Amino acid sequence: MQIAIIGTGYVGLTTAVCFAEFGHQVVGMDIDEKKITMIKSGKSPIYEPGLEEILQRNLASGRLIFTTNLAEAIDESSVVFSAVGTPPNEDFSADLRIVYHVCEDVARLANHNLVFVNKSTVPIGTGSECEARMAAILQERGLPYHIPVISNPEFLREGCAVSDTLKPDRVLVGINNNPIAKDLMEEIYRPVTRTENPIIFMNRESAEIVKYASNAFLATKISFVNMLSELCEEKGANIRDVAKGMGLDHRIGPRFLHAGIGYGGSCFPKDVKALIALSRHTGIPMPIVEATHEINERQRQRFFQKLLNALPEHATVAVWGLSFKPKTDDMRDAPSCDLIPLLLEAGHTIRVFDPVAIENAKARFGERIQYGTSALDTATGADAVIVLTEWDVFRGINTQELRHVMRGTHLFDGRNIYEPKDIQKTGLTYHGIGISEDHCYTTPAFPHSHERIPESAIQTN
Ligand SMILES: NC(=O)c1ccc[n+]([C@@H]2O[C@H](COP(=O)([O-])OP(=O)(O)OC[C@H]3O[C@@H](n4cnc5c(N)ncnc54)[C@H](O)[C@@H]3O)[C@@H](O)[C@H]2O)c1
Repeated sequence: MQIAIIGTGYVGLTTAVCFAEFGHQVVGMDIDEKKITMIKSGKSPIYEPGLEEILQRNLASGRLIFTTNLAEAIDESSVVFSAVGTPPNEDFSADLRIVYHVCEDVARLANHNLVFVNKSTVPIGTGSECEARMAAILQERGLPYHIPVISNPEFLREGCAVSDTLKPDRVLVGINNNPIAKDLMEEIYRPVTRTENPIIFMNRESAEIVKYASNAFLATKISFVNMLSELCEEKGANIRDVAKGMGLDHRIGPRFLHAGIGYGGSCFPKDVKALIALSRHTGIPMPIVEATHEINERQRQRFFQKLLNALPEHATVAVWGLSFKPKTDDMRDAPSCDLIPLLLEAGHTIRVFDPVAIENAKARFGERIQYGTSALDTATGADAVIVLTEWDVFRGINTQELRHVMRGTHLFDGRNIYEPKDIQKTGLTYHGIGISEDHCYTTPAFPHSHERIPESAIQTN
C-alpha cells in the first residue's frame, strides 16, 4: 500500500519518515520547493532529535520519496494524509483554508477511490465538510469514485516527535461507518499498536474534539498553577513547594504543574483559542477554557512588566532561549517573539542565544538584535539575563561565572529553573515566578560583620 502525506512540516515530515520506517511505501508532498529540495537531499528543515537519521535511511531504501506535485503524490496512493497547518484567525477560530484547499485539490486530481485522513487539528464538523466538498467535485467531474474522510488527530510532541510517532500512547481514529477505511488504518498502524498502545476507533466528530480537549486540559493545568503563582508572590509562599505538594497526590500528578511565563508554541495557544471560538460560535459556555487563555496572557504580561520596571535606561539584555520549549527550533508563539519587540521598543539592546533556534530568530528579527555563540558570551556585559526556555545548558550554567561576566545583576528566571538561594549567593538579583520577592532578593555577597543582613534576604525555602 502506498501512502501520501500532504504537508511536510513538524507533523507531516515526522509521520512520513516514521511510516516509511514501519515498512510502508510513502510519498511526502509540500508546496514549499526549498523544503522539499532540502528533504530530498537527506537534510531535515526542522530540528527534531533522531529525525534526520531515519529520513536518510528510508530515502536510501527507496520506501520514501518527496515531491511538490500533488497529482504525482496521490496517483498510486490508497490513503492520503493531510498534515497542513491550521493557524488561528483573528477571531480565535481555526483557519481551515489550507485544509479545504488540499481536500478539494485531491478530489480534482483523484483517479481512483481513496481514503482521505485529516491529521491536522481541526474543529468538529471539518471532516464532514471536507467529505461533502470532495463528493461535490467528484460529482461535477462525473466520476464514480468515493473518498471517505477520516479523523486521525496527532498527539506527537515537538522535541520527541520521532519516539512519540514510533511508540504512540494511543492512536485515535474517527470513522463514520466505513469498514474498508477501518481495515486500512489498522494495517497502517499495526506495527505500533498493541494492547498497551491501542488503536481506538470512535466516530469522526468525537476524534476531532479529543485533540482540542487534551491540549486545553493540559493548558488549564499550567494556567491553574500560574494563577496560584501570583498569590504566592503576594503572600510569601513558594509555588514550587505548592506544586510539589499538589503533584504528589496521585490523582493530580506532577506533570504540567510548573509555574512559569506561560504556555506557548504552535499548539496550546491556538487550540485553546479554537475551543473558545467554538464556544462562542455554538453558544455553549466554556468559562474554564476562557480563563485558561486569560491567565496565560496575564502571566506573560506580569513577567514582562516586572522586567521592564527593573531595567535601567538603554540596558543591554541577554535573552536565553528563543524556542517555545527545549529540544525544538519552533518559535511559533514563543515568549521570545512577544518580549523581544517590547524590549526593542523600550530602547534596550538585545543579545540572544538558543542552542538550535538562532536561524529561525535571524529570519524573524534580522539585524535588529545581536546573536551570541553561547549563554555566557551573550551575557557578557549585560545588565540583565532573561531565561525564556528551560534548555539544559542554562540549567547547568556556572552562576558565579555568570555574575562575573555581567555588568548588572538581574537574573529573570521565566522558567523557575534555578534555586533562589544558589543565585543569591553569587550576588545576582533573582526574579522567579511564584516566589515572593522577599525570598528572592540578594544577600550581599560579603557583608561586613557589623552590617545586619536584612531579614528578607535570608533564604527560608
Ligand atoms: N507541531 C506539533 O507539535 C503538532 C502536534 C500535533 C498536531 N499538530 C497539528 O498538525 C497540523 C500541522 O502542524 P505542523 O506543526 O506540522 O505545521 P507546519 O506549519 O510545520 O507544516 C505545515 C506544512 O504544510 C505545508 N503546506 C501549506 N500549504 C500546503 C498545500 N496547499 N499543499 C501541501 N502542503 C502545504 C507547509 O509548507 C508546511 O510545510 C496542525 O493542524 C497542527 O495543529 C501539530
